[in-house]
Amino acid sequence: MQIFNYISELRKYLDQKTPKTLGFVPTMGALHQGHLSLVRSAIEKNDLTVCSIFVNPTQFYGQEDLQKYPCTIEEDLNRLEDTGCNLCFLPSINEIYPQGVTRLRFNPGGVDKQMEGTHRPGHFDGVATVIQRLFEIVRPTNAYFGEKDFQQLCIIQELVRLLKIPVNIIGLPIVREKDGLAMSSRNLNLTPQFRKEAPRIHQTLLQVKALFTQRTFHTIQSHVEYIFSKSTLRLEYFVIADEETLKPMQAFDTSKKYRAFIASFASEVRLIDNLPLHKPT
Ligand code: PAJ
Repeated sequence: MQIFNYISELRKYLDQKTPKTLGFVPTMGALHQGHLSLVRSAIEKNDLTVCSIFVNPTQFYGQEDLQKYPCTIEEDLNRLEDTGCNLCFLPSINEIYPQGVTRLRFNPGGVDKQMEGTHRPGHFDGVATVIQRLFEIVRPTNAYFGEKDFQQLCIIQELVRLLKIPVNIIGLPIVREKDGLAMSSRNLNLTPQFRKEAPRIHQTLLQVKALFTQRTFHTIQSHVEYIFSKSTLRLEYFVIADEETLKPMQAFDTSKKYRAFIASFASEVRLIDNLPLHKPT
């Protein structure tokens, strides 16, 4: 695997190779099987695959969170190599933000207005800023994102549409631990006690799915709140939203697809998860 720290070197290499299809997987590192499933799909479908590792300062809400973000660069490079990734882009903050670390403002027409958008102000502007910059540098044919961050995926689809960036955005399902916990780099920061408790998030989502269409939203919401009141996890939000618009469900409409979303805190560690309510699990 070739590793590039500089845009000029990466561009030189790509301009020489001129692959017919270039796959791209942007990440913030501390790679796990969720990330690697995206890399595998990219490798399968493209002539060349680039994975970027860049902990993007503009998408963190408060300095604290950024400082605590896990960094396992040696292991990451080994995992990428073992997975068969061709290229890794490991830029410095200066390479990505030569004019200083600033966030551009985007207005992706509503999908940014709820959930992560309201609980982490500025977060999606930071994600959109770095993704636009990375797309400009890498110029991929296909870019891969996980449904783990479903709202992020919707925002990136909207960003590409608004700015007419010529790239296909491909969303892939959540990869889970055996006990159902959605894989996340942040899981590395869980204490053993919270790691034991964390699968409750997915278990709750499964219960929501079982209750969906049989109970009113308010009954389901009370049930979720009750489960969390008995847990050491703190519920930040629970939402059932239309997959297309991400607007919270008003009344059940059989022509729409819905997804349930949970954000919660295991002490200081923020965990998010979601589950489609229309598919078999
Ligand atoms: P990061 O959290 O490192 O995630 C990189 C990609 O991996 C995202 O598309 C995310 O949705 C996906 N992913 C994470 N956990 C997953 C899981 N358990 N199953 C499937 N896919 C999973 O998301 C980011 O980084 C950043 O916001 C980024 C897009 C790189 C911009 O900085």
